[in-house]
Amino acid sequence: MSVLQIPTAEVFVPLLEPARYKGAYGGRGSGKSHFFAEMLIDDAMRNDGLRAVCIREVQKSLKESAKRLIEDKIRSLNVSQHFEIQNEQIKTPGDGVIIFQGMQDHTSESIKSLEGFDRAWCEESQTLSSRSLQLLRPTIRKDSSELWFSWNPRREIDPVDQMLRVKMPTNSVVVNSNWSDNPWFPNVLKQERLDCLYTNPDQYDHIWEGGYVTVAEGAYFARHLADARHEKRIGRIPRDPLMTVKLFCDIGGTGTFSDAFTIWAAQFVGHEIRVLNYYEAVGQPVDEHLYWMRENDYLPGNAEIWLPHDGRTGDRVFDVSYESVLIQAGYNVTVVDNRGKGAAMARVAAARSLFPSIYFNEATCKGGLDALGWYHEKKDENRNIGLGPEHDWSSHGADAFGLMCTAYYPPRRNHHRSELEPEETEDY
Ligand SMILES: Nc1ncnc2c1ncn2[C@@H]1O[C@H](COP(=O)(O)OP(=O)(O)O)[C@@H](O)[C@H]1O
Ligand SMILES: [Mg+2]
Repeated sequence: MSVLQIPTAEVFVPLLEPARYKGAYGGRGSGKSHFFAEMLIDDAMRNDGLRAVCIREVQKSLKESAKRLIEDKIRSLNVSQHFEIQNEQIKTPGDGVIIFQGMQDHTSESIKSLEGFDRAWCEESQTLSSRSLQLLRPTIRKDSSELWFSWNPRREIDPVDQMLRVKMPTNSVVVNSNWSDNPWFPNVLKQERLDCLYTNPDQYDHIWEGGYVTVAEGAYFARHLADARHEKRIGRIPRDPLMTVKLFCDIGGTGTFSDAFTIWAAQFVGHEIRVLNYYEAVGQPVDEHLYWMRENDYLPGNAEIWLPHDGRTGDRVFDVSYESVLIQAGYNVTVVDNRGKGAAMARVAAARSLFPSIYFNEATCKGGLDALGWYHEKKDENRNIGLGPEHDWSSHGADAFGLMCTAYYPPRRNHHRSELEPEETEDY
């Protein structure tokens, strides 16, 4: 079969050589998606019967997949005669196939259907959960098989960043690409980029230069976190072995067993809230959460659980079976009432007023601290008014944190009321 001659941007050239893990991370418009789509077509042309899967963490429909991009590339590269575009998949030369799947639809059983695959390309990999990576990596096991990842980095603790930037596996090639590396960077995006510099300078580095997210504009706890750091309340906070550990949870999405789940582990000691640990999982079953609790020695005898009644918006109702599963596991569970509209802002207010008494164990709370730094107000740009908290990757962590602050009670009064009453702090 003839081999294609596709011009490749310099930055991606290292990815053309075989490697088990290939990654390209960076800001918007750097040509990552186009590059991998072309390489996939090229690989399919070179290897008869190549089987490839294009993956996202969540893929509700094929519209969210790379299918359309690959189809367009097949046409623009003039190789339509070698491919057959079908409704759900694309047939490649020699009876190969390209399919499109969401990791969240997979179980440890169903993932086995991918065992004979040669390529797995994960788009928007910053949202991949560690469960997804754990399922995928051993599954793509054929000789000379490759796993590809393209992403715009969000946080250092994200599983894909941990895997391909912090502790790289053997035989990985990873490149950093940005708009300035893209020879085909289109005019529309040129303007978008310049506008972003001007209208959204806080997020520019993340969106366009591939930097990790930092504090967002309108962040609710930015100043509080800065103060906590300044006052050395973020550091090494040991667990008091004699005191109960309180676990405050948030259930993202609809409350099904595989949604986002966050937990803050804290001890209330005198007037201090000592935050010991933070857990965040997307798409993991409840057993995973229980495993984390046991692993950290948060057991029914020494730990208690708080759950929200429902999520932040009115249409997400807490699935009561979380409560029953945790009770069945032996825990004492408190479900906090639904406070209805305004609940999210009430949690923000509670957290702000308690913040000066909160201490964080830095090493284990990193992901949660990132979320608190990012949690911010959504803005109606036209009217320049706030619309309440933005619902994004940070809100589940922030919600569980807010739950902790609304559930906080000061030490019981024994003797001098004035001594033990919590101090009033300003709310702004
Ligand atoms: N190989 C290419 N051939 C033609 N146009 C390209 C190519 N790579 C990138 N582009 C142009 O650059 C734009 C951004 O590329 P894209 O792959 O979507 O970037 P990213 O995935 O990094 O955000 C595309 O919409 C396209 O116009
Ligand atoms: Mg892309």
